[in-house]
Amino acid sequence: MFRLLSLLITSLTLVTAHSRSPVDLTPTHVRVNALIGKHNASAFQCWEVDPPFSISAQPGTVGAKIQNLGDLKGANVVFFNQTASTNAGLHPAPAPQWVLVLSGKGVVTLPTTGQQLRLPQGDIIIANDTAEVSAIGHNTVWAAGSVAAQLPFASGSIPHTIE
Ligand SMILES: *[C@@H]1O[C@H](CO)[C@@H](O)[C@H](O)[C@H]1NC(C)=O
Ligand SMILES: *[C@@H]1O[C@H](CO)[C@@H](O)[C@H](O)[C@H]1NC(C)=O
Ligand SMILES: *[C@@H]1O[C@H](CO)[C@@H](O)[C@H](O)[C@H]1NC(C)=O
Repeated sequence: MFRLLSLLITSLTLVTAHSRSPVDLTPTHVRVNALIGKHNASAFQCWEVDPPFSISAQPGTVGAKIQNLGDLKGANVVFFNQTASTNAGLHPAPAPQWVLVLSGKGVVTLPTTGQQLRLPQGDIIIANDTAEVSAIGHNTVWAAGSVAAQLPFASGSIPHTIE
């Protein structure tokens, strides 16, 4: 009974590494949740990405905060099943990459701790729990009709500090 209860509590632990709407726009840098490999398993971390925001001077976006995404390679957009949710199953990140939730929503679950991270529409995360650093990876369930962009880093990494 106690075990069941603690399992239940664990499985309800939602990660709120930082408040955001859905991306945390701090005064100088963007803050995102990152999926990393730790002790050969996936874990969550909060990263502040470099370089800091710039303020756009371009017509069309003037005055807005602009985040440089670094050099990318093989970027793509994923259109999940439109009528049924997609349970991606346990998988490591295919490559160190940005994941942008353009439409719909997802929930990431860590198999080792049961911790969950919600990915609302408009969210931006970094998935870096590749097979070399996380044997089992993480699970993601996507709502029907979700659309996500995967933007792999050309060099495999992006400068960041851990929050
Ligand atoms: C989407 O899910 C439905 C219901 O499970 C299934 O019948 C359909 O074949 C799926 N479509 C695609 C493109 O996989
Ligand atoms: C990670 O776990 C897998 C599966 O258990 C194992 O084959 C691999 O050697 C481990 N890697 C490290 C770096 O410990
Ligand atoms: C991802 O993790 C590896 C170590 O496993 C590290 O070398 C790399 O810099 C990280 N990627 C990013 C995007 O920082």
